[in-house]
This record gives sequence, C-alpha cells and structure tokens, in this order.
Amino acid sequence: MVAEHYASHVATRQRRAEAVLGACGYDGYVVSSGVPFTHYADDMDAPFHSVPHFAHWLPLDGPHHLLHVRVGKRARLVRFAPEDYWYEQLPLAEVFWRAEFELEESPDVARCWKRLDLSGRTAYIGDEPALARAHGIAEADINPPLLIARLDWERAYKTAYEVACLDVAESLAARGHRAALAAFENGASELAIHHEYLAAVGCTEEQLPYHTIIALDHKGATLHYTGKRTVGDGRVLLIDCGADYLGYASDITRTWTRKGCDATFRDLVKGVDKLQQRLCELVKPGIPYLDLHVAAHDQIADLLHSIGVLKKSGREAVELGLTGPFFPHGLGHFLGIQVHDVGGRQKTPDGGIQAPPSAYPFLRTTRAVEEHQVFTIEPGVYFIEMLLRGHRQGPTAQHFDWALIDRLLPFGGVRIEDNVLVTAAGQRNLTRPHI
Ligand code: GLY
Ligand code: MN
Ligand code: MN
Repeated sequence: MVAEHYASHVATRQRRAEAVLGACGYDGYVVSSGVPFTHYADDMDAPFHSVPHFAHWLPLDGPHHLLHVRVGKRARLVRFAPEDYWYEQLPLAEVFWRAEFELEESPDVARCWKRLDLSGRTAYIGDEPALARAHGIAEADINPPLLIARLDWERAYKTAYEVACLDVAESLAARGHRAALAAFENGASELAIHHEYLAAVGCTEEQLPYHTIIALDHKGATLHYTGKRTVGDGRVLLIDCGADYLGYASDITRTWTRKGCDATFRDLVKGVDKLQQRLCELVKPGIPYLDLHVAAHDQIADLLHSIGVLKKSGREAVELGLTGPFFPHGLGHFLGIQVHDVGGRQKTPDGGIQAPPSAYPFLRTTRAVEEHQVFTIEPGVYFIEMLLRGHRQGPTAQHFDWALIDRLLPFGGVRIEDNVLVTAAGQRNLTRPHI
C-alpha cells in the first residue's frame, strides 16, 4: 500500500529538488541524517531523530547517513554501517525504497564522505557542518537559508506516499486511543493508561512522535501535560497521543467522560466535538487558515454562552476577549515528518514569516489552505485559573458565570483533534474513520 506509491514520491522529490536547486544556483545538495544529541555533561544520548530533510526522501533510521541529491541524476545514498558490538547494527534488509537510490555503505563516517563526488556547486544541509567544511563545501553553502526555505515550503504538499504513511500512523494511534478509553472506563491511572496505549500501538515511548499527553480531570488544563500520576478513577480523560509510521506522525486528541462528571461539562465535551467537525468541514483550498481559527473562537463563544459560562455570544464575546482564556492556543498546525511541521507561517517559497495577529500569538499556521496540505484541527476549551484570574475582577467580570466556572474547574478541559488532508473539493478527515 505504502510501497506502491514510493517510486512516484521519489520522482516528485527529484523534480521539486531540481527546480529548487536551479532557482538557488546549485548542482546538488548533500543532506546527512544527523548526529545523535548527547546531553550536556553526560554520556547519554537523546532519542535519535533524523534530519527532516533526509527523512523526506527515505525512511532509513540512524545517524551519519548521507544523501546526495543531484540535478539530472538519481540520488546517491551512502549508508553509515558501523561494526559495533555495543549497539545493535542490523544489516539492510530487503527494503522497498532501495531501488530508487545509487546505494553504497561504509563503516566509517569520514569514508562515507569520501564516497561523494562533490565536483559541482554543492550545498550541505544538516548538523555536521564541520564535515561539510572539511570536504570543501563553502561556508555560504552550508545550510543556506534560501535553499532551506524553498524545501520547507515544499514539505507542506504531501505526496500519495506521504498520505499513505499518515493513514497508517492514524490507524496505529487509533488502536492506542481505543485501548486507553477502555482502561479509563475501568478507572485506570494516567500511568496505566499510558502503558495500555503503548501496548496497543506496539511501540516504546521513544518511538512515538511526541510524549503522550494523558490527563485525568484538572490536569487536562495543562495543555502539554506529560506527568503520569498513579491515581485512577478519573471523571474526565483528555488524551493527546499520536503514532509514527516510517517517519510520519499522527496527532490525535480525544476527551472522554465517565461517572461522576458534571452534566454541564459533558455538554461542553459534546459541543466541542460538534464544533470541531463543523470546522473540519469549512476546510477547502483558498481559505486562509486564520479564518478557520477565527471561526473557532466564534463557535466557542456560542458554545460557552449556550452552556451558561458566558453571558455574551458570537463576535461580540470574541471582541471583548472573553474566549481568549478558554481557548489559548492555535487551532492547529501542519503535520508530517514533524508533529509541528515546518512552513505553517512561511510567507513565500523564498522565506519570510507571516506572523499571526497579536491576539493569537500561538497560532502556528497563517498560510493559505491549499490542496495536498495536511494539518490538525484542534479546538479546545479549558478552565485555566491563571488565565481566568485577570477577568475575575474588572470590567469583563460581569460577562462570566463565576459560580459555574468554579464548578467546572476540577474537570480540566476539552480538546478534540483530528488530522485533515486538503483535497481539490474540500478535505478528507484522516482521523475520524479510525476513531
Ligand atoms: N500534540 C501536540 C499538539 O497537539 O500540538
Ligand atoms: Mn496538534
Ligand atoms: Mn495533539
């Protein structure tokens, strides 16, 4: 399924790389898979992540591999294959991507570089600049901003292969979410739910695209809560967990309730779920992502009004700043090799940043919506005391039902997050078929 789209993915990478190289005046670029990150004053490495510009071409894990992308020629891959009895080094199996590259192997980093023909004007992308310099690449051609901006821009448009990888990442995460829900319903703790999630996805935590966010009750009001308490019997579960497939990430959030949950909070969960689906349906080529974010605030205002938290609704409530404390993050972000994929705020293929309006500093996506983009739609409503505090006294205080807010605070918050592919006609929700 995934493999059948791979040759066309590489052909697209090659075609787009050639256009970018031509525009930047290069004959080729070398990208390395990267160096392990070692913690300061320690001999322990962080989990290894390939340089995304490398991962965009092929799913070969591990450090120091080199890929030389060249105008008019098949890309050359030099695989770093050390002899090592400390860490397992598996031989290259019969992988589906192999035929697309001129492949060599070397057990030594310096010798990997010697296998490259760097005779044309070559740029280098990656975190091993000293090696690039040592092999004659000019300082100005190491991570050149214009080349990187153009490649980042391209990353937003997913090929059929990338969408197929994302589809698998969705179904893997959905398995985990279903197991997590069953555990929650049985009164499991955050730590136990985490273990159920990993077991169902079939991976270690290091193999996930981001740390599991598994929050019971008030902990759901910490947006990226990664604590793992051992107390169970929660009344609300906010679970934001993804999965990885061949270097592509899913990013899914669900909020579930159980006995003991306040009826108004349950209505809030249902309301956020409904408005999230309405927002997904607004997605179509041409609409600015910012419009979706603003629509989310309007709909959240109406929902908070309908359940009695706010005494104003719609635009008026948003313009008074009443939704800000409840929905303090952006509606979503690009998704792909990185969970928060690049290019969401990029102004043009040549770079520049299109900052979000000052009212929405955390919005990661200000670009126009276009076909083949994949992003998240993740509205939320939270009860966060530090954000509400400023409204408890002063001119806006009259617009809130504080007694109701105090009753809902112990239940934390609601977030519902799906991953959406933009199509010519609108969008395809990658998540909902699975969970
Ligand atoms: N899981 C992080 C996020 O939703 O952005
Ligand atoms: Mn997200
Ligand atoms: Mn998420």
